Amino acid sequence: MTGPAALRLGVVGAGGFATFLTGALRDLPEVTVTVVADPDTDRAGRLAGILAARPVPDWRALVTADDVDVVVVATPPAGHAETTLAALRAGRHVFAEKPLAVNEDEALAIRDAVAATGRVLVVDHVLRYNPVLRALARLLDPGFAAPPGSPSDPLLGPVRRLAFENDASDEDLGPEHWFWDERVSGGIFVEHGVHFFDAADALVGTTPESVQGMLGRRPGDDLVDLAVATTRYPDGAVATFAHGFSHAHRCERQLMRIDFGTAEARVTGWIPVHATVDLWTDDAGAALVESLPARAGELLAVDGHRLRDPAVTVAVHRHAGPAQARERGHERRLPHRCHLTVDLGGEAAKPYVYAESVRAAMHDLVRCVRTGGRPAAGVTEGVTAVAVAAAAARSAREDRTVHLGRSAEPATTACPS
Ligand SMILES: NC(=O)c1ccc[n+]([C@@H]2O[C@H](COP(=O)([O-])OP(=O)(O)OC[C@H]3O[C@@H](n4cnc5c(N)ncnc54)[C@H](O)[C@@H]3O)[C@@H](O)[C@H]2O)c1
Repeated sequence: MTGPAALRLGVVGAGGFATFLTGALRDLPEVTVTVVADPDTDRAGRLAGILAARPVPDWRALVTADDVDVVVVATPPAGHAETTLAALRAGRHVFAEKPLAVNEDEALAIRDAVAATGRVLVVDHVLRYNPVLRALARLLDPGFAAPPGSPSDPLLGPVRRLAFENDASDEDLGPEHWFWDERVSGGIFVEHGVHFFDAADALVGTTPESVQGMLGRRPGDDLVDLAVATTRYPDGAVATFAHGFSHAHRCERQLMRIDFGTAEARVTGWIPVHATVDLWTDDAGAALVESLPARAGELLAVDGHRLRDPAVTVAVHRHAGPAQARERGHERRLPHRCHLTVDLGGEAAKPYVYAESVRAAMHDLVRCVRTGGRPAAGVTEGVTAVAVAAAAARSAREDRTVHLGRSAEPATTACPS
């Protein structure tokens, strides 16, 4: 018996990321690339040649082509909304590179089009499909901690404070690159920040109510290469995101530090490949920590992401301190100190983990097309991230706190049922 036919992908844009993305999908049998569109016909021809697909110069021909079920939008950001809207209106599903759009109005128009057409849209927020961040989300979930039917506190949580420090490289970003042109990229918050605004939402479990942004310019130049934003969530959690595109590749550094009150997590790599968690806990928490190495597959599972030698190691120091402790005026029983390490292979594993996250995102789209349901990174997540990013940019421009409103409304539908 044969399975359902592969979904046929039309890829718009044949640049650096389209090449990486299609490489990541090479052995995902659920999809096959049939058409590649790029006005740079050399690029279109080269990528189409690798994929045994058909090159076309104009994306408009691609979105209505008979042999395209899903349009992959992988052009610079300013073109995303027009292509995505045309694809949805032509009845195609969309795999949208981030950012979903360069401003909130465009993003909301896409949300309306998804609702009106019932097509599936996945936005390539790769961090939603990252096993390390998925593991932290599981440790925030009381359902993961407890045997079925027995109530229990989650091991972590909730997030009180998150800080993402991102000393990024500009080594491949010459002054002529579209990245620096806010009209094309949307600016650093929109082009790059969306990944991290969305990842924070996934861990905090809600979306921000307000944002403050600040931009830094390169000395002696008008070029903005530092973008810092602080978001506040309705339950009082606060997150800070700093992106500085001013480093040599070898000096790139990233750290996501998360304060869960009784626990601190440190996640390294902008594509997370390693995390440590230090925590104080009770008897049930210590038992859960001790069980994690044997549950590594379950802890790190992301559908469509093939884990390669993940390592979960723990050290539990029972009765490391007096049993009673007090925080925020509450008595807590926290006698045991634990250390947890999750490792996907260190920095060397980044290209693999990155590619598998893209693969998992596409697998999620296929799942929604075939069986309904909601993708982990759908139009709602795409719209919210753009809204927060655009608000951070507005805050920096106007030197004031910006309160977030309309995009917090849930989308009518994210997936056909
Ligand atoms: N999800 C991720 O982790 C991730 C990482 C890197 C880049 N991206 C995103 O991927 C997108 C593309 O980035 P890139 O680095 O590949 O850029 P790039 O400059 O390398 O490639 C862009 C390509 O799009 C083509 N193009 C421009 N306008 C077009 C149009 N109207 N129709 C068809 N093709 C058109 C260009 O000719 C070029 O070949 C951006 O939105 C970027 O933010 C996502």
